[in-house]
Amino acid sequence: MRIIVSPDPVTTGAAAAHAVASAADDRPDLVLGVATGSSPQPLYRSLAILVRAGLDLSSATAFALDEYVGLAPDHPESYHSVIAREVTAPLHLDPARVHVPEGPAADAGAAAEAYERAIARAGGVDLQILGIGTNGHIGFNEPGSAADSRTRVVELAPQTIADNSRFFLDPAEPVPTHALTQGVGTILEARRIVLVATGGHKADAIARAVEGPVTAAVPASFLQRHPDVTLFLDDAAASRLSPALSTPSVNA
Ligand code: F6R
Repeated sequence: MRIIVSPDPVTTGAAAAHAVASAADDRPDLVLGVATGSSPQPLYRSLAILVRAGLDLSSATAFALDEYVGLAPDHPESYHSVIAREVTAPLHLDPARVHVPEGPAADAGAAAEAYERAIARAGGVDLQILGIGTNGHIGFNEPGSAADSRTRVVELAPQTIADNSRFFLDPAEPVPTHALTQGVGTILEARRIVLVATGGHKADAIARAVEGPVTAAVPASFLQRHPDVTLFLDDAAASRLSPALSTPSVNA
């Protein structure tokens, strides 16, 4: 696990964007795994600047990690909408190559299997971008998720529902309670993983993921078993790591 600590979220996102850009330079038909939420936004913004300067992602394929169950795809907070707005358009991706799990599908089990097959048909994910929940989730694999779990419908933890309520400001509209998410096992099959975490509210989850035991109680701790993971952290998110890991530097 490599850890790169930067002073603030913007610098963190820029460092992660350069890692993604260099992977795309090496392989124009890169298969990218994309996360939603706040953490990767500075990454996407930096990457968009590189795209405007000439980086070509038009042959890349993208697979989102998850989608809410019970939100129409055209709802502004559905991950179909968020990915279209924050990823596909600014990165000039080909919309036909951007995939989001079909959260509202009538047969969610079939939708989950179809998503796994689509990832396999694309040859697997080359580089997966991840955030981390304050409870240590990756994708929406909440505490208790197995290391070999696959794409499936999950119930969101109360902590996640509380954390996500900031995106659902209309009190008449409840925060979704379920999602269709790639499994931990699905995520761990990506050849390379880039996790972005910023802010002191992520410090505990990061410390447990990096230095705690590998346990289903902290799904991000399963990343310790992956051979190619880079964590891009700001000072605040790194603040509970042991001093050798949290200094602004690259750690092998
Ligand atoms: C989003 C996702 C989640 C988020 C996590 C952190 O697609 O899979 O795991 O990455 O909940 O969210 P933020 O970045 O908003 O704190």
